[in-house]
Amino acid sequence: MNEQIASIQTAALELIAAASDERSLDDARVSTLGKKGTLSLAGALIKDIPNEEKAAFGQSLNAARTTLTAALEEKQTQFQQQADQAALTGIDLTLPARSIHTGALHPLTQIRHEAITILRRMGFALADGPEIEDEFHCFDALNTPADHPARNEKDTFYFDSGKLLRTHTSSVQVRTMETAQPPIRIIAPGSAYRRDEIDSTHLSVFNQLEGLFVDTDVTLPDLKGTLEYFFHEMFGNSTEVRFRPHFFPFTEPSFEIDVKLQRKGEAPRWIEVAGCGMVDPAVFESINGTRKDNALDTEKLTGFAFGMGLDRLAMIRWAIKDIRLLIENDTRFLSQFA
Ligand code: PHE
Repeated sequence: MNEQIASIQTAALELIAAASDERSLDDARVSTLGKKGTLSLAGALIKDIPNEEKAAFGQSLNAARTTLTAALEEKQTQFQQQADQAALTGIDLTLPARSIHTGALHPLTQIRHEAITILRRMGFALADGPEIEDEFHCFDALNTPADHPARNEKDTFYFDSGKLLRTHTSSVQVRTMETAQPPIRIIAPGSAYRRDEIDSTHLSVFNQLEGLFVDTDVTLPDLKGTLEYFFHEMFGNSTEVRFRPHFFPFTEPSFEIDVKLQRKGEAPRWIEVAGCGMVDPAVFESINGTRKDNALDTEKLTGFAFGMGLDRLAMIRWAIKDIRLLIENDTRFLSQFA
């Protein structure tokens, strides 16, 4: 090897060996192999070398470059390994990994989405209204007299202002009919509040879904067909649905709807899931009274309404025995719906 190159190589190897970190190693690389590094400058001398020595000189140059590159790489790997090692100190790789919790929609949200999806397919649009209501929208407009038990302070949460927490989503019917032009076909999911004793089937806040259809020719068979279809979609085509005569101040005739629940190993039983009926003309009249355009002409229009308990539907769907599980946010319970 050319002597000059040999001594450059020796000096460079020393520099590389002496490098104590990646930065000084990089300096060593620049000062030898860099554009103005020792080896590159020596390479430039080849033009002054007699022709017969050029080949040997070139070979020396290449050999030195290969050696130095390898030395640099080796040192680089060594630093990397040291850094990896340092990063691991204090970490116990045998510890179990932290589990990743996957989120999921709450069962009530799932059932609400499902109910909305089925009803939207039938042409119902979403409507909304306030949870803090006045007596007119919650009771008076719905033909519910002042002495009706639902209006009692024992049953309803009143504010000092006289306003109240709505006891049902039927108030959204009223608010919709106050402004909309018939035909009206809406659903209103939302919370309702009652001063119930809390137990496995009652909460003071629960979830309803209200429906209202007003048009020129709405009949009881429309109501039955719509809700039967709904519960078949919800719980399966073979689910038995029964309409039991009942009383609501705002519908006439009125019914409660039960579905037959057949659980493995249990005797079948009927469970109440909704109230419904044909809108009482007195409701149309009281809203005509405020909007003054007789848009809800009782000579021309009829309607049906229904209100279902979403918590109840969720409990049926997943055989949940205690309604309180739906509000406790216990992940052991909720993760089963993921
Ligand atoms: N609002 C009634 C309730 O909360 C349910 C219902 C709605 C009944 C619409 C008839 C028509 O129990």
